[in-house]
Amino acid sequence: MNEKRNFFEIKIDKEKQLDFREIFGNDNPIHLEIGSGRGEFISLKSLLLWNKNFLGIELKDKRIEDTLKKLDLEKHKNVRLMRLFVDENITKVIPTESIEHIYIIHPDPWPKRKHHKNRLIQNDFIDALYKILKIKGILEINTDHEEYALWILNIFRQRDDFKIFYEDGFTTIPPEGHIVTHFEAKKRKEGFEPFLEK
Ligand SMILES: C[S@@+](CC[C@H](N)C(=O)[O-])C[C@H]1O[C@@H](n2cnc3c(N)ncnc32)[C@H](O)[C@@H]1O
Repeated sequence: MNEKRNFFEIKIDKEKQLDFREIFGNDNPIHLEIGSGRGEFISLKSLLLWNKNFLGIELKDKRIEDTLKKLDLEKHKNVRLMRLFVDENITKVIPTESIEHIYIIHPDPWPKRKHHKNRLIQNDFIDALYKILKIKGILEINTDHEEYALWILNIFRQRDDFKIFYEDGFTTIPPEGHIVTHFEAKKRKEGFEPFLEK
């Protein structure tokens, strides 16, 4: 496991921006997953999109450990992981206009009104994501939580820097190649449908 840690985990230096060419050894486009959890998505998507580089950022070390178990030193050369609490300061670590695609899959919904301030999707955070995305970059968000889906949509409807992909703002029909994560599988068993927003 140590060998995997050494290869896949990027040790963060908060004073220095990441140099993706140095990290991956090539100039392939960068796809970023925020809150990568136990790694179902990044471990599968990176095999499908083998010509993209994938960075998964996750707050909890135990989940990084679970993700490492799904990664193979030979097959996943295009994947790296980083342990970090992501917020609007992400611009200090990730260079401007460096990311082709950002995935946020089932961000914690913080359902109680008094906890809404903890939600990841807030205008300041979206400002930061806009900065790190390339022109015509994609931000893709999935949630199982209807009220959070509407909260997210409301934020994007008031901004003119992002174009909303789906006519109604989101879809409940999984697109082709949709990957079911640990969290989605758990929620589906409980009867929830995910909302996908782009
Ligand atoms: C509900 S889980 C979803 C995990 C995974 N995407 C899935 O669908 O199974 C949310 C994940 O985001 C991580 N997380 C929450 N806030 C975060 C933050 N600010 N920065 C990085 N990771 C965060 C949590 O530790 C957790 O693993």
